[in-house]
Amino acid sequence: MKLLILPDAAAAAARVVDEIRDLVDEKPDARLGLATGGTMEPVYQGLVASDADLSRVTTFNLDEYVGLSPQHPQSYRSFMEARLFGPKRMSRKQTHLPQGDAPDPEAEADRYEAQIADGGLDLQLLGIGANGHIGFNEPTSSLGSRTRVKTLTRRTRDDNARFFDDPDEVPRFAITMGIATILDARHVVLLATGSAKAEAVAAMVEGPLSAVCPASALQLHRRATIVVDEAAASSLALRDYYETVHPGGAEPEL
Ligand code: PGA
Repeated sequence: MKLLILPDAAAAAARVVDEIRDLVDEKPDARLGLATGGTMEPVYQGLVASDADLSRVTTFNLDEYVGLSPQHPQSYRSFMEARLFGPKRMSRKQTHLPQGDAPDPEAEADRYEAQIADGGLDLQLLGIGANGHIGFNEPTSSLGSRTRVKTLTRRTRDDNARFFDDPDEVPRFAITMGIATILDARHVVLLATGSAKAEAVAAMVEGPLSAVCPASALQLHRRATIVVDEAAASSLALRDYYETVHPGGAEPEL
């Protein structure tokens, strides 16, 4: 794992924007895995403000709520349209999410998995839940899982209730890429900011490889870049070491 500790949330998001820009400059038709959540908002703001050319990329989001239509204001399709796809004038043809209101969610999950596998992903962007989830792979998700329907934990529903008028409206199920789907991406970039993520970050990086912390599966990935701010780094036992290897998030001088 490459652990980059940046001074604050804005600097951490800017580092992630750089990763995406570098990839797209090198490979204009890159296949990008995208994420939603509050942590990602400054990343999309940074991409929109940049001159990154996303006209030829293809995107696949990690997950979508079951039961919400793409037009629902709290759907992840709506989140992405408002923050990235609309401002960057990206078409429906190049941007993909599972369809939350598909008549057969399990079949929709299989279809989505096949669409991702047909070319794979050059970079998968990830956040992390306070419970260690990635995508909606909640604790005890199989480390070998593929895209499927998952039941959300009470904690995740509570964490996401702030986006809904009524907490009872938070869906109970989601279609999410599986952990093995995520591990197939050629590069994984996880962004975590704020002290509420500190315990989850420590469990992911330094805890045992365990389905109880789904993000710990990234320990198996050959190219995982973990970008955190100082608050999210605060529970890391080997923090001094990471800061020696990548001072201020810079590449090491050999
Ligand atoms: P957040 O969500 O960025 O809103 O904290 C992250 C996640 O649950 O993956």
